[in-house]
Amino acid sequence: TDRYAVFGNPIGHSKSPAIHRGFAAQFGDDISYEAIEPSLDGFRASLERFIAEGGRGINITAPFKTDAFDAADLRLEGAELTGASNCLKFEDGSIVAENFDGIGLLRDIEVNLGQTVVGKNVLFLGAGGATRGAALPILRAGAAQVVVANRTLTKAQAIARDFAAEGTVLAAGFDELTSGHDIILNATSTGLFGTRPEVSDDVFDGAALAYELVYGKGLTGFLQQAQDVGVPTLADGVGMLVEQAAEAYAWWRGKRPETAALIEKMTVPLT
Ligand code: ATR
Repeated sequence: TDRYAVFGNPIGHSKSPAIHRGFAAQFGDDISYEAIEPSLDGFRASLERFIAEGGRGINITAPFKTDAFDAADLRLEGAELTGASNCLKFEDGSIVAENFDGIGLLRDIEVNLGQTVVGKNVLFLGAGGATRGAALPILRAGAAQVVVANRTLTKAQAIARDFAAEGTVLAAGFDELTSGHDIILNATSTGLFGTRPEVSDDVFDGAALAYELVYGKGLTGFLQQAQDVGVPTLADGVGMLVEQAAEAYAWWRGKRPETAALIEKMTVPLT
């Protein structure tokens, strides 16, 4: 049995164990996948224990993605460019870090939702770890421009500066935003708290897709606003979650699971 786990705090409601067990069942793979909740200062100790016990790899969720990055001996590009890791692999005595959040989001938009980012104006609301992880694959896939808008402008400016070599990245405050965005992503944590980013309705004018990175919260304030304004396609982060998991599974085990049926099963109607 090959051992894997997801590390987070809190971890109680994580869907990762069910997702990965479902993937293993597709292939008849003999794996175990646990949910582990280190104390807030205990990530490194838990990680070392899991490796010593023969663990093969882990996923990482909040608040440990930077700890995972710091713990790595080797960082692949997605981790290096974001300064965070949502996936570690243990091989030949070393810890290798990657970050599949951005590629998971991109695949969800392009493959599952059938929209392209090529030539599109993409707006991220929020400038925390979620935006940092997600913006780069979208830029690289050919977005015309990415606008990062945040309540705290300096954090948006930092992302714009850090990613400037990859394409056109602009920073803005919420109150400076106007219309003209094709894809609008809520990467703030408001979806978890029942609030929404304070942007005006005009910002959604003409948008084709409104995407809430949080999953399982139904119609969040952000999605509600997008729906009220008439954005034709609404999505939450369930597809991103499953797609990043599939990328992790493929990296660990060399074969990529099917995702469509699982996403359909996990999707909660946005009403
Ligand atoms: P994550 O890793 O999930 O991105 P984070 O790094 O703590 O978490 O970032 C949270 C993001 O949500 C930030 O962009 C934060 O805005 P600030 O940088 O101004 O703090 C944003 N956020 C949290 N609550 C918000 C609210 N009520 N309205 C708007 N943005 C909010």
